[in-house]
Amino acid sequence: MKTIEQIIAQKSQKERITMLTAYDYPIASFLDEAGIDIILVGDSLANVVLGLESTTEVGMKEMLHHTRAVVRAVKNAMVVGDMPFDSYQLNPRAAVDNARQFIEEGCQAVKLEWFEDCPKVASAIVKAGIAVMGHVGLTPQTAQKQGGMKVQGKDAASAKIITSQAKLMQDVGCFSVVLECIPQEVAQVITRQLKIPTIGIGAGPHCDGQVLVIHDLLGLFSRYQPKFSKKYADLGPQILQAVRQYKMEVTSGQFPDDAHSFHLPQDEIKKLMA
Ligand code: KIV
Repeated sequence: MKTIEQIIAQKSQKERITMLTAYDYPIASFLDEAGIDIILVGDSLANVVLGLESTTEVGMKEMLHHTRAVVRAVKNAMVVGDMPFDSYQLNPRAAVDNARQFIEEGCQAVKLEWFEDCPKVASAIVKAGIAVMGHVGLTPQTAQKQGGMKVQGKDAASAKIITSQAKLMQDVGCFSVVLECIPQEVAQVITRQLKIPTIGIGAGPHCDGQVLVIHDLLGLFSRYQPKFSKKYADLGPQILQAVRQYKMEVTSGQFPDDAHSFHLPQDEIKKLMA
């Protein structure tokens, strides 16, 4: 298993960190086999798997259910559990207990999005011995307060606020911080100023690592495609084609053929018919 120390060391060794989301056993197995450093059981589960509008619509129950499937698959990567909105923002008192549940399921760390009380809550979780990844810039759980799912830090004043939030996450003991949807120049400044690694999503090439939502990378989610995400495969049309072929073969009687069926020996057939 990738350790916190190894992830931090990648920054000084200038070895870029790779992180992707996974929510189930088969995809997590592929990411682990491909050598991805960190697998995030993201609360983007809400959008790309459960068909919900907002990440605030998933809770601990759903997150832990999917975390278990991912952990079962992973042998080498670090698994990070994304704390859902109601597990620490609505209920900061229960945050440590909820974070502990992710660790008990086999995660090495949890991730928290920035909100007013984030340093206090993150500090409490770190003091309980649990590794925390911060998340600043666009924070989807509270995006309504940020004017929607938009690029953040587009002027020097707001960029300075994001920079100070990232520093606060480092100061309270976070081992890394996600920078979401900010200009690359801002991400570069933050990356230079922090000792801990930055992991960008829509934050340009100067971060210490990159993260994407796996359904965007594989072309499995067509409701919207953020400008920053890149489709490395377009599996949607392939799935559609395979399912249409199956339907055609079943309705025409082509499937199942002999190669996909079992036989009873002749003498057993005679006895069966007797
Ligand atoms: O839930 C998620 O997918 C995330 C990534 C955008 C970092 O938090």
